[in-house]
Amino acid sequence: MTQTKTNTTSVRNMEDTHMRAIVYHTYGSPDVLKLEEVQKPVPQDDEVLVKVLAASAAAGDWHLLRAKPFLMRLMGFGLLKPKHKILGAAVAGRVEAVGRNVTQFQPGDEVFGDLTKCGFGAFAEYVCASEDALALKPANVTFEEAATVPVSAVTALQGLRDQGHIQPGQKVLINGASGGVGTFAVQIAKSFGAEVTAVCSTGKMEMVRSIGADHVIDYTQADFTQNGQRYDLILAANGYHPISAYQRALNPQGMYVMTGGSTAQLFQAMLLGPLISRTGRQKMGNSAHKPNKKDLMFMKELIEASKVKPIIDRRFPLRDVADAIRYLEAGHAQGKVVITV
Ligand SMILES: NC(=O)c1ccc[n+]([C@@H]2O[C@H](COP(=O)([O-])OP(=O)(O)OC[C@H]3O[C@@H](n4cnc5c(N)ncnc54)[C@H](OP(=O)(O)O)[C@@H]3O)[C@@H](O)[C@H]2O)c1
Repeated sequence: MTQTKTNTTSVRNMEDTHMRAIVYHTYGSPDVLKLEEVQKPVPQDDEVLVKVLAASAAAGDWHLLRAKPFLMRLMGFGLLKPKHKILGAAVAGRVEAVGRNVTQFQPGDEVFGDLTKCGFGAFAEYVCASEDALALKPANVTFEEAATVPVSAVTALQGLRDQGHIQPGQKVLINGASGGVGTFAVQIAKSFGAEVTAVCSTGKMEMVRSIGADHVIDYTQADFTQNGQRYDLILAANGYHPISAYQRALNPQGMYVMTGGSTAQLFQAMLLGPLISRTGRQKMGNSAHKPNKKDLMFMKELIEASKVKPIIDRRFPLRDVADAIRYLEAGHAQGKVVITV
């Protein structure tokens, strides 16, 4: 009897102090990701402890997992081994506890957020985050849907609005419209009143039309940089075209914003974009997402106004994060890949 009581107590203590998480100790393929029992995080005075109910996977996860490009090792993520042992930037869950200086949240609040500046950690049962990384979850979506928003939608929003200066009535083209960033970009561009052309492959045309694209180009059948059409704003979310091809598809005062695609495309946008922008009227460059509470709240409003609806491709349980990342890395996701916790 005494023995049973002791066992029960220690199991309960263990539940209080420990949690399950997907951990990696060395850089490598998804094979290095392991489900482990680890210490449950304790919130600092200015932190919120979130019980994770869903997370979403993004390309950033496999870049951090493999330390690719190599430069990442020199950017504070760990030279020889990963500094942050638990991946996952985009999270949705319920506030479990708050530090003494936290004013914006209380236990029980339903939140979503971007952990990029808090050391990641969404692929776990609990995570600590600063108040600024979180916002109240849109009321009309599930935790799984909310978890798709923080990185991908904010990337699309900042690319279109902040860098692209999107305006109502503009002709906007989204390349890579069917992926995690692209599905948000199509809907956000429509919410700004643009006429949207989406570029994707044959099997994804119907989905892209269903989220509001006015025109759809099947990249397996036609090359939008060769058909004589011109756009006011092009957001390159995925795929590859040289910067000269994007330039050809832009109006004389058009804007090209690269948020994703091949490494060659990124270097062209970073190095040649500013040169082209200085010498001509077209503006070209890349945009990297900046975690930002105001933009999380902006997206919450768009979602609650039913102007944007997260598109989920597949769901994987926490123990299968490695499979989720393998799937994402194959490069053919339709919308977002979600981790259920
Ligand atoms: N700038 C930033 O801060 C930031 C933030 C987030 C992500 N990113 C980057 O953005 C890129 C896209 O992210 P994501 O989450 O959208 O990726 P994703 O969900 O993995 O993108 C997959 C989609 O891209 C489409 N695609 C692949 N090749 C294409 C092509 N040649 N033309 C048109 N579409 C193509 C695929 O369609 P098919 O299967 O039909 O080919 C698929 O639907 C990644 O490179 C990521 O690193 C950057």
